[in-house]
Amino acid sequence: MSKRIVVAIDGPAGAGKSTIARALAGRLGFLFIDTGAMYRAVALWAIRTGTALDDMHRLDQLARQARIEFGAGNTRVLLNGEDVTDAIREPEMADAASKVSTVPAVRRALVELQRKMATENSVVMEGRDIGTVVFPEAQVKIFLDASPAVRALRRLGDLKAKGIEVAPEQLEREIADRDRRDRTRAEAPLMQAPDAMYLDSTALTIDEVQEHILAILRARMSNGKEIVR
Ligand code: DC
Repeated sequence: MSKRIVVAIDGPAGAGKSTIARALAGRLGFLFIDTGAMYRAVALWAIRTGTALDDMHRLDQLARQARIEFGAGNTRVLLNGEDVTDAIREPEMADAASKVSTVPAVRRALVELQRKMATENSVVMEGRDIGTVVFPEAQVKIFLDASPAVRALRRLGDLKAKGIEVAPEQLEREIADRDRRDRTRAEAPLMQAPDAMYLDSTALTIDEVQEHILAILRARMSNGKEIVR
């Protein structure tokens, strides 16, 4: 049996992590796991139950009780059996997810779940702490970045495609605030793992970013035992 492979992609909001991770996973036949969606699902449940986003005790309970699953080839996100794929993409959910993700007990519960999801399968997992905390032993670690202006533009495009209008300046401000919180929190802050490859996607196409990552994966697996398409 060939060894399970973990490709860890971390980086700030709008760097292109989901797009790249999803495409790569499809190409490699690996599972795609969007860990941000898991923090968003806990945040959604907190908001729906009127839980304050700094109520550590209640958030701990919610995160441990939440049944978070990915369905339909990992294109849908289920929370306690309900499809919340669209609900977790509402603009206010990004900020709420960033807030609940500062709670250590929430992180513990979700990291455990993330590790479980990758026990049977090779995965491309994206988030903020995959290479540093969730899978420090990942064979491939990428820190995907892009200029703040391009990241805001990409998010704007994502939201527009869903029919959601946000002022560009407001979105830029929100992304900057969220990045600051994600980078400065005490527990598992967003940062590049020392052995991660820094990739700036500002001027690269999706295909070019994929090719870079595949080249790294091939180099890491070049003991002849793994076949990487
Ligand atoms: O990737 P995203 O924008 O969907 O993530 C939403 C928030 O969740 C992000 O601002 C911080 C948090 N998050 C995290 O703390 N750790 C992860 N591995 C993934 C997301």
